[in-house]
Amino acid sequence: MSRGRFISFEGIDGAGKSSHIDALAAALRDQGHTVLLTREPGGTPLAEQLRTLFLQQPMDALTEALLVFAGRRDHLRTVIQPALAAGTVVLCDRFTDATFAYQGGGRGFDATVLARLEAWVQADEAGGLVQPDQTLWFDLPPAVAAQRRAAARDADRLESEDQAFFDRVRAGYARRAAADPQRFVRIDADHPRDAVWAAVHQAVFGRAPAAGLGG
Ligand code: TMP
Repeated sequence: MSRGRFISFEGIDGAGKSSHIDALAAALRDQGHTVLLTREPGGTPLAEQLRTLFLQQPMDALTEALLVFAGRRDHLRTVIQPALAAGTVVLCDRFTDATFAYQGGGRGFDATVLARLEAWVQADEAGGLVQPDQTLWFDLPPAVAAQRRAAARDADRLESEDQAFFDRVRAGYARRAAADPQRFVRIDADHPRDAVWAAVHQAVFGRAPAAGLGG
């Protein structure tokens, strides 16, 4: 059986990726793919418990990074790698780029330490790194994202950070994208939903959608 495809979705809070992940899962299933929708922090019972701690308890940046990488290790070994081996398309709402953007960019934590954790946690049997095949980065100005967040829900610990923090997170994503342009696709999320969906569809299927959202 051929290996599945691993697609991650990134962006600052309020970038609007969630509805597009669901639409993409539906479009892939319509084409006959088996699709697994998952997320980070989270994706396993252990990692979901770590997520709750991560989002609610005050902690320093290294502790944040250790918690998300601990959950990631469990998620990779028990969910993502078995699914890919079975030929499943894995759609993951955030992955390691979020750690480089939020802990590295937002918190200003040392990226070389993050890279070491990444190398430990994501090592595969062939001596390489398990990474997404494709990463869709929903990019938009932090001020626009802040308006969307204010309209949407109560803020958790990270969503409560100020705009300067999200400016640094965005810059962190930009650095990761520049370092791996083959994997990253920047989606301009500062557009109406149909236009963003068209860009997502184009990135994944290599062509525009036949109709509007979900087509
Ligand atoms: P979510 O609400 O999009 O699921 O993400 C939860 C928060 O966790 C979001 O503010 C981004 C943050 N986060 C990190 O700070 N580091 C990470 O490694 C990940 C995966 C998420």
